[in-house]
Amino acid sequence: MGLKISGKGPRSHKLVILAAAFVLMTLLILFGSNNVVEEPYTPFHVATSYGLRTTNLKKWGGRDGYLPVTGNKNMSLHCRTCALVTSSSHVLGTGAGAEIDRAQCVIRMNDAPTMDYEADVGNHTSLRVVAHSSVFRVVRRLNELLQHVDNNSAIIFWGPSNKIGKEGKGTLYRLIQKVSAMYSNLSCFTITANKMRRFDNLFQSETGRDRQKSHSWLSTGWFTMVIAIEMCDNIKVYGMVPPDHCGKKTGSKKMPYHYYKPRGSDECVTYIQNESSRRGNHHRFITEKQVFARWAKRYNITFTHPTW
Ligand SMILES: *[C@@H]1O[C@H](CO)[C@@H](O)[C@H](O)[C@H]1NC(C)=O
Ligand SMILES: *[C@@H]1O[C@H](CO)[C@@H](O)[C@H](O)[C@H]1NC(C)=O
Ligand SMILES: *[C@@H]1O[C@H](CO)[C@@H](O)[C@H](O)[C@H]1NC(C)=O
Ligand SMILES: *[C@@H]1O[C@H](CO)[C@@H](O)[C@H](O)[C@H]1NC(C)=O
Ligand SMILES: *[C@@H]1O[C@H](CO)[C@@H](O)[C@H](O)[C@H]1NC(C)=O
Repeated sequence: MGLKISGKGPRSHKLVILAAAFVLMTLLILFGSNNVVEEPYTPFHVATSYGLRTTNLKKWGGRDGYLPVTGNKNMSLHCRTCALVTSSSHVLGTGAGAEIDRAQCVIRMNDAPTMDYEADVGNHTSLRVVAHSSVFRVVRRLNELLQHVDNNSAIIFWGPSNKIGKEGKGTLYRLIQKVSAMYSNLSCFTITANKMRRFDNLFQSETGRDRQKSHSWLSTGWFTMVIAIEMCDNIKVYGMVPPDHCGKKTGSKKMPYHYYKPRGSDECVTYIQNESSRRGNHHRFITEKQVFARWAKRYNITFTHPTW
């Protein structure tokens, strides 16, 4: 009884063919599922509630992760109180400018302007966190952006090291170098390749998802929040919505994604489309905010306009 595997009869031939067909099918299914079959639609952040590790951001010791573009300055910013001003249109009409400027340090992102928006966003800037994709926009308007900067303010540029790193020898790095040399009262830093990897690892440990494999791009908001936690004892965030904002009825009210682009894309549409997109790389704005909500309990972070 039992099947003869290595016989020479026609029956075993059939078996071999069947086995080969089976292997072929399995291979087809395995490879096919990577390339052809779309994952079913699920909001990215559904998978984020288990198996998370927490990192102590006050101690993950990253100052050496910020490389001065010229000279040998250290990223030594330390502030008791910080205002982190987001670029969201929720800041408009708040009249929070004076309060923002009373913070010891004011942190902004990319090319978000202060001019013409002082009443709502203030006019001091201690630190700007700038994405590689925003370098040109920032440099083009640098004179305007630097108008009211505090003496010794800083810019931290983030991006892949082949773009913004010394070793990349790219156009972007040379541009950053020029800016850094031109404005001696402005300290420019780039994030090292090693520290970039740590930001990726942090995303993985806080969300349970591998940043690259899940086709995610970190946002400037992610870098800015982590840097703010590193350097500030207390952070007040202006204009950031809570993670569930866009799922609510009230969230369907149209609000521009950026306060300085009134006719630009809608905030919730941008958040939801990025969060749920599977093809190509996308930002996970909503997932990031879920992490920020956890960090808020740990690191003295409060949110205003809206308050949560
Ligand atoms: C920067 O930090 C390093 C090591 O922490 C120190 O040796 C160096 O003197 C500092 N440089 C400046 C300009 O403060
Ligand atoms: C902005 O700067 C000017 C002085 O340069 C100051 O008078 C003003 O109160 C500042 N703050 C706001 C919110 O406009
Ligand atoms: C910084 O330097 C630039 C160019 O040298 C100058 O125009 C600007 O007024 C300076 N800003 C401060 C706050 O000192
Ligand atoms: C939180 O902020 C307050 C006020 O700025 C500060 O006194 C306190 O030390 C901070 N707490 C922590 C845990 O950093
Ligand atoms: C994702 O967000 C970016 C802004 O960072 C936006 O330019 C882009 O259009 C968004 N993608 C989708 C699919 O909405």
